[in-house]
Amino acid sequence: MSKSEPFLTTLCHKSPAAIVIESETEWHRLKKVAKISARIPILLRINPGKSFGGLNMAGGTQFGLSPEQGLSIAKAAASLAQVDFLGLHFYFGSQRLTVAPIIQAIEVVEEIIEFFRQANLDLKVIDLGLGCGVPYLAKDAALDISALRQQLSLRWQSETWSPIEIWAEAGRALVASAGFGVCNTKRNVFTT
Ligand SMILES: Cc1ncc(COP(=O)(O)O)c(C=O)c1O
Repeated sequence: MSKSEPFLTTLCHKSPAAIVIESETEWHRLKKVAKISARIPILLRINPGKSFGGLNMAGGTQFGLSPEQGLSIAKAAASLAQVDFLGLHFYFGSQRLTVAPIIQAIEVVEEIIEFFRQANLDLKVIDLGLGCGVPYLAKDAALDISALRQQLSLRWQSETWSPIEIWAEAGRALVASAGFGVCNTKRNVFTT
């Protein structure tokens, strides 16, 4: 759902860690409501238009700016006193049950980081939704978290990532084991 002007105005008054801008429309709205007195930190949500298995959250119908749109907004933001461009946000897949598609997605993120650096744009923060999945069906095998941890910790030490503060958006992998879904299909009631 797109962030409206009133919603963005409310966010601006709440001293957010960052507002994630997901479209050019949201960017134009933010410019209207952001005040110079309260410099608003922003992240740009990039949709690289690629998918690697699990639930696809990339492509034309999904949220996010193309890398080129993101770059032009980041450049414009650099010359505006009312916003502080912090970096990029990525969430372009979910319910990934193997390590390979998560690492492939990270490789795409690294290409985009490089694309921004080539244009001399400093990225302080990268906010990542890695889309770690949980087994829903008897046939599903759980994601090997320790293998993922091993591969990611090596990557985080590389030159690409070492100057960057990584923010993580963990979803189902964090909360799925915290409760049970109980469903009565006759009455169409779902509780957790
Ligand atoms: C922007 C964003 N980040 C993170 C998540 C959590 O996703 P997951 O359950 O795949 O980890 C969602 C879920 O919809 C989301 O929209």
